[in-house]
Amino acid sequence: MQLGKFSFDKPVFLAPMAGVTDKAFREVVRAVGGHYVWTEMISDKALAYHNPRTLNMLNLEGEAGPRVVQLFGSDPDHMARAAKIAEHLGADIIDLNMGCPTPKIVKNGEGAALLRDLPRAQAIAQEVVKAVHLPVSVKMRLGWDEGEMVALELGERLEGVGVQMLTLHARTREQFYSGLANWDWTKRLKDKVKIPVIGNGDICDPEEAKLRQEASGCDGLMIGRGALGNPWLLPRVEHYLRTGEFLPEPSVIEKIRIASLHFNLLLRYKGERIGLNEMRKHGAWYVKGLKHAAQMRDAIMTAKSAPDMQEILKRIVEI
Ligand SMILES: Cc1cc2nc3c(=O)[nH]c(=O)nc-3n(C[C@H](O)[C@H](O)[C@H](O)COP(=O)(O)O)c2cc1C
Repeated sequence: MQLGKFSFDKPVFLAPMAGVTDKAFREVVRAVGGHYVWTEMISDKALAYHNPRTLNMLNLEGEAGPRVVQLFGSDPDHMARAAKIAEHLGADIIDLNMGCPTPKIVKNGEGAALLRDLPRAQAIAQEVVKAVHLPVSVKMRLGWDEGEMVALELGERLEGVGVQMLTLHARTREQFYSGLANWDWTKRLKDKVKIPVIGNGDICDPEEAKLRQEASGCDGLMIGRGALGNPWLLPRVEHYLRTGEFLPEPSVIEKIRIASLHFNLLLRYKGERIGLNEMRKHGAWYVKGLKHAAQMRDAIMTAKSAPDMQEILKRIVEI
């Protein structure tokens, strides 16, 4: 598949995850051999007001393309303005969020609320497509709830106004993250539209990824929670889709080496206070499933300074 100047062969994307897929994590995913990453969702309004925290989220300096920036909002003109700013700051692809289920987002008519207002969703996409010289994609869910499954109609409307790729998280808004993603709908969407469809929901290992991709016929996959503390899942899935061979799981030493790199990047981009706080969350994910994980997690949670955290990570390798 082709998107602007980028061609992809069954790409495996890191899902946009607020509070997770920041610059540090995107760099980590690339360091372990992943290729395609997404920013966290970025507010159109905050961008227009040049909110410093938001501008920092859009720091794409030094990152290899394609640099996919995800925007959320509810007003077509504001979204178009935000897309132009993102283009100016180095985005290669603009993705529009039409799936975030969080109440505080939905109550502003943003994210998954757009699944209940298809004319508005379409108008947003249309204005953004007109405003930038970049490919525009949309990430969405099946619909609001089981009684309102709008993915096929929305997909057609978006294709009609020039959206070039759709990602489907195959759950409804009402499901949030519970239950199972329903990949039958991914196939139905793929059969309905001509533009590429990326399948998303519950992929946790290479074999399952291949089954999902083949059964749905989707053009690529997106992985979210499966990559938490486990960025290797992306290259492992990519490799398996391409060759049918398994890349081994990383050793404990390798895992902790990457956790340390992650921490150093957090320190560089966010400073000691925030970096330390965020590493507690990531550190707990990195050690999940290891022998003595509970003990390691407790130690990570109590780290009081950057050298303290570094020492704890070093000791984990010796346990
Ligand atoms: C912590 C977290 C933050 C998320 N933030 C976003 C976001 O900013 N934008 C978005 O489109 N989806 C967001 N999602 C949804 C994921 O991109 C993805 O669609 C969902 O987790 C399903 O994929 P998975 O089963 O592989 O995790 C988020 C999910 C999680 C767990």
